[in-house]
Amino acid sequence: MEAVMCRSEEPQDKLNALRQTRREETVLTGRKAADRLAPDESGLRLPASLAACGRAARSGGDASTLRLVIVSNRVADPDQDGQAGGLAVALDEIFRVRRGLWFGWSGQVRRDADARPARNRRAENVDLVTLDLTPREYQDCYLGYANRCLWPILHYRTDLVEFRHSYAEAYQAVNRRFAEALGPLLREDDLIWVHDYHLIPLARELRRLGYRQRIGFFLHVPFPPKEVFASLPGYEEILSALVAYDLLGFQTETDKACFLSTMERLVGARQDGHGQIDAFGQSVQVGVFPVGIDVDGFAELATSPKARHHVERLLGALQDRDLIIGVDRLDYTKGLSHRFAAYRSLLERVPEWRNKVSLLQIAPLSRQELGPYTVTREELDRLSGEINGVFADLDWTPIRYHVKPLARSTLAALFRASRVGLVTPLRDGMNLVAKEFVAAQDPADPGVLVLSRFAGAAEGMKEALIVNPHDVDGTADAINQALTMPLDERLARHDALLQRLRKQDAQAWHRAFIDRLAAGKPASSAFPLEADAPAPITAALCNGSQPTSYRDRETPSNDQLLDQEYEA
Ligand code: ADP
Ligand code: F6P
Repeated sequence: MEAVMCRSEEPQDKLNALRQTRREETVLTGRKAADRLAPDESGLRLPASLAACGRAARSGGDASTLRLVIVSNRVADPDQDGQAGGLAVALDEIFRVRRGLWFGWSGQVRRDADARPARNRRAENVDLVTLDLTPREYQDCYLGYANRCLWPILHYRTDLVEFRHSYAEAYQAVNRRFAEALGPLLREDDLIWVHDYHLIPLARELRRLGYRQRIGFFLHVPFPPKEVFASLPGYEEILSALVAYDLLGFQTETDKACFLSTMERLVGARQDGHGQIDAFGQSVQVGVFPVGIDVDGFAELATSPKARHHVERLLGALQDRDLIIGVDRLDYTKGLSHRFAAYRSLLERVPEWRNKVSLLQIAPLSRQELGPYTVTREELDRLSGEINGVFADLDWTPIRYHVKPLARSTLAALFRASRVGLVTPLRDGMNLVAKEFVAAQDPADPGVLVLSRFAGAAEGMKEALIVNPHDVDGTADAINQALTMPLDERLARHDALLQRLRKQDAQAWHRAFIDRLAAGKPASSAFPLEADAPAPITAALCNGSQPTSYRDRETPSNDQLLDQEYEA
């Protein structure tokens, strides 16, 4: 499955077919939608599998029988293969083995989005229910607050934060709208699992509306030290929204420790020493749940004849040169410029590798409306051009750089064909590519992973060659070490990595979180129900209308926005 957000240059007929399917989707709204999703109450018919799922939920069973409701900004698109973004990939794995409801943004932007009902679509194990965003919501909430404020702060990049009051207001308002649309679809004993920084206030909004189900939150990206987090204007609001959950999950011990010290030092939270903190008159459980992948499934993809067929042309062009690969969304956090510089340093300092290796960088475009992303893209164009300009030979292209999404099987086969995998972000929540690279290797002749110490994955992948991406010569040395590593050392490192990946795979991740959520404290009945009170952030931030961003960019006017109808 793949995210609805169409990034690829889809063949026109496939896009048309997809649009036709969308036109045929059942349009559901409010109470009607709830009826349709709770078939045995309404008498409506559902496939037997889904009806059984509903019965199990109401029988009050354990975590494995309760209905799981996932809420995330991105929702997978069952019609597409290959999507860039760890969140949708990870969540897709859950619904391979479990039934439930997946609620989120459709990936589409429409003028009348706030007046349109949610759309419902059924795919194998899951009911996909999605909302569109209005152009204003897309600009101010998704691009504005989520990706101009939270994303850079959470990745330690305070220099890139562009904060405006209108962004914070839109963020709260979109979360409120999501809660209002989701609420009527919920059953009493659902387990609700909200994902990532776009939706932090969702639990509080659901509680305001009176929903008492257990609600967990998982942050896919890092949580920074308190000094960094404190530079987010109105940070108290985000912290108080987090304690409305029953369970908070982080990718690494470092993220959890940063969160706990932020809570303690910035808002006076108290810890009980057993993973619970109390703040704002509420308590929340906190845990570490590193996201994993489907190890065997990915390994199978890597060896499928179809995948092999897709990469044969590239392998032919390599003419027995060693392939070094990087696969990342084109994001400033991924350290791509540093990586290109490290590759250049390798070719300069170890000239024996000239004409003997080739770097393939797959970097699907992401959030191109945002300045730092277009700057990164221009920089990569320039750096790759320079490297090819300086080192290329008639029969050798030192670096190939593509910005298209690929089918997952093609990616898997490319990983397997590579001698070295470069995963060198400046900061990353986990990084699934690091895990996919290891899973895809031939266990009898594995390639070597060069991994940034600043990727969450580094906490559990010590047998990779761990680098500091800011040290470009050091990274070049590690690439050299990887290219020259003897087979017995490669086997030992790969075997250890693979064993750990299997223990912490996709299923272990979601089971650990859901079991803890189901077992945890019941939703606080003492939660203040101030249905009509404004969210504190909005009030706090509206005292004064000056933008507080150091970079005061023009945002589109309402009229400009109304003229746009995106299919993002
Ligand atoms: P992030 O969530 O920040 O994008 P991750 O490394 O955790 O980073 O996840 C990226 C996911 O997207 C991986 O599963 C990877 O295989 C997938 N992916 C990255 N690039 C592409 C691409 N060009 N085509 C298809 N899938 C991609
Ligand atoms: O994994 C981090 C993440 O931000 C996900 O939440 C998101 O789906 C993915 O990266 C891709 O980003 P976007 O949804 O903005 O395209």
